[in-house]
Amino acid sequence: MKVLVVGGGGREHALCWAIAQSKRCSELFCAPGNAGIADVAACIDIGAEDIPAIVDFAVSEKIDFVVVGPEAPLVAGLVDVLEENGIKAFGPSAAAAELEGSKSFMKDICSKYDIPTGESERFDEPDSAKEYIIRHHAPIVVKADGLAAGKGVILCRNENEAFAAVDHIMVERPFGEAGDEIVIEEFLTGEEASFFALVDGENAVPLVSAQDHKAAHDGDHGPNTGGMGAYTPAPVITKKMADEVMETIILPTIKGMAAEGKPYKGVLFAGLMITDDGIKLLEYNVRFGDPECQALMMKLKSDALEALLACAEGKLDKIKLDWHKDTALTVVMATKGYPGHYGKGTEIRGLDDANALKNVVVFHAGTAFDNHRIVANGGRVLGVTARANGIKQAQKLAYKAVDLIDWPGGFCRRDIGWRAIDRAKSKK
Ligand code: AMP
Ligand code: GLY
Repeated sequence: MKVLVVGGGGREHALCWAIAQSKRCSELFCAPGNAGIADVAACIDIGAEDIPAIVDFAVSEKIDFVVVGPEAPLVAGLVDVLEENGIKAFGPSAAAAELEGSKSFMKDICSKYDIPTGESERFDEPDSAKEYIIRHHAPIVVKADGLAAGKGVILCRNENEAFAAVDHIMVERPFGEAGDEIVIEEFLTGEEASFFALVDGENAVPLVSAQDHKAAHDGDHGPNTGGMGAYTPAPVITKKMADEVMETIILPTIKGMAAEGKPYKGVLFAGLMITDDGIKLLEYNVRFGDPECQALMMKLKSDALEALLACAEGKLDKIKLDWHKDTALTVVMATKGYPGHYGKGTEIRGLDDANALKNVVVFHAGTAFDNHRIVANGGRVLGVTARANGIKQAQKLAYKAVDLIDWPGGFCRRDIGWRAIDRAKSKK
């Protein structure tokens, strides 16, 4: 079948790499793709949010199946329009994508279907939001309701920071309409983990757990980023906890969404906080995490295309996923300056040497060609991904590959996987 992947980051490279290995994939396209994706798919110069152009391309090329990577086109209704045109797609409808597209929608689903999450309230003007902050005290979390490219969540240590966060989102309005409403939420403490399940509207298949590293620098210092590395499985999630997440969070959500007339299809990504008071849902995402997806695809043994297709066709009850026993770990290499200001166009060498290592794949997140040279073209640029027996070996192999990459314009954290390594040490 002819498959089109929408997006151009490390997540989409990992998806293309996995899909290209499927016997059922005869031709693979990616819009817009990047210099690494070009190795496995034909890259089409169409932006991931250009819905009319994507649909035109899919119709004229007679694409059989479209896999949508990022959240923005999902929230904007790409899957709805594709289905109206008779094209199967992986990902939720716009109505179901509100689980990520609107924090207040997600909170309403949680309270209606009794899903454990932080206590919160929504506001559409600053004064009552500030009164709430005075009553509930800091630390407290202020969130823009809509999509804000990962910048809409502000953790506030004191009341003044919380007032400033309210004014930032609602008065200065850097996120536009996404800040028309805010959600103010209780500050939860604990360890975070990512939990993914494939969903076909009715059935859900849990994937392995993962953990990412949001802070820019070693030891979890520095500003938050989209994620500087990830690994799977995440030992912080035991089998018993995974069962609890399915029972108390994922399955009630799927039943709830179906009852609301917004059946959920695609991958459901729950951001969890493991608190002393049980596991709580921090947020839902309606797509694979990035870089988590890179580690997940490296660990997946089954045919990825079959699994994604089963979500779209309502046949997940027929799918059983096989995984490699090893741990998979991704180290993100980013342009110096990220997540603040950074330049583009610095040359990257040594990628072939790194890719030549057994069980290593360098996924590209933000690269471009410049006269046959590969250059950086974004903040997060590479996801150096390794699979090996145990977290320590996976980390060692990933950094061996990183050290073969010659890119003076880039940097990475040197401690990806530290929580799992510490956990393993403390068990000994
Ligand atoms: P979100 O986009 O809602 O996941 O928020 C991004 C990040 O902010 C999360 O990964 C957490 O690190 C943090 N965060 C969000 N909500 C809370 C909360 N209620 N308490 C503490 N940290 C939070
Ligand atoms: N790595 C977290 C995310 O994709 O949202």
